[in-house]
Amino acid sequence: MDALLTDSAVLERIHEQRLIEGVEHMSPAYLEGMKRILTVSADTELVGAPAYLYAARGAPNINTFGSAIAIIQDELGHAHIAYRLLRDLGVDTEELVYRREPVKWKYPYAFDVPLDSWYELIVANAFYDRAGYILLSDVYNSTTFGPWKRALIKVDKEETFHLRHGEQWIRKLAPNTADHETLQNAINWMFLLTVEWFGLPDDLKKHTEQLGFGFKGKSNDELRQAWMAAVVPFMEEVGVEVPAHWDEAAERWVIDCPFPARFDAASKTWMLDDGPISWDDVMVRWKGRGPMNEAYVGRLQKGYRQRMAVAA
Ligand SMILES: [Fe+2]
Ligand SMILES: [Fe+2]
Repeated sequence: MDALLTDSAVLERIHEQRLIEGVEHMSPAYLEGMKRILTVSADTELVGAPAYLYAARGAPNINTFGSAIAIIQDELGHAHIAYRLLRDLGVDTEELVYRREPVKWKYPYAFDVPLDSWYELIVANAFYDRAGYILLSDVYNSTTFGPWKRALIKVDKEETFHLRHGEQWIRKLAPNTADHETLQNAINWMFLLTVEWFGLPDDLKKHTEQLGFGFKGKSNDELRQAWMAAVVPFMEEVGVEVPAHWDEAAERWVIDCPFPARFDAASKTWMLDDGPISWDDVMVRWKGRGPMNEAYVGRLQKGYRQRMAVAA
């Protein structure tokens, strides 16, 4: 089925407060934009599974390993929902999930950096799942695409469980001298990568249809602010340092170090002494993907490839 409506017919329906229910209510621009935002969401959910599984090896015991597996299972469910919606929009999801080259996947760069310990997994829950929760709550509140809006009720509840899992563990470990430094080291590389998660700043952003068609409600910078509003006070409460503070005069959260900055993925360090870099430079890093991209996508595609090889 093709999207045959004009943009103005779509906007008219939206202004009448009626949701878009399928391709028959879309214009080509709405359809392409919705595919783009859904692909980012689906890829992010799916790659979370191998990334968290890799980290779960460091679980302190079998019960905590079980809670990590429960989170992974949720992420697979979230990914399934988003790819299913893409299939209903006419996308070949078998190609998208199982045959697409790793470098073409659209999830945030942060997931390409390995989570090497239980500490890094719980910070990922507190940071990455919080980012996911903020992005998807905004979609839930504002999206004009009915099937996605309804599906997100369940997703939002599960993301809340994931981020609480991270925060409870951080609260538990932060007061211990032995754990504090390891936790601080994880946060040192993971904080700015999650600030980046929200994408280009508003003045550089290309895909303006995301707001015009009501795919989401808040801009990238507003979502980034919402994330810092939740994360920075929590970090202050548990006594872990992050390079950001509330600026009374500007009435916004500001970053206290060069940003965006150069990141060395192999050593998981920010080259802050080099000063800030341009977003064009950041895009080069994002597009080149990071160290775990091939391994994670390879893991997701392995079973399919084996089955195809047997069938051939
Ligand atoms: Fe998720
Ligand atoms: Fe999650």
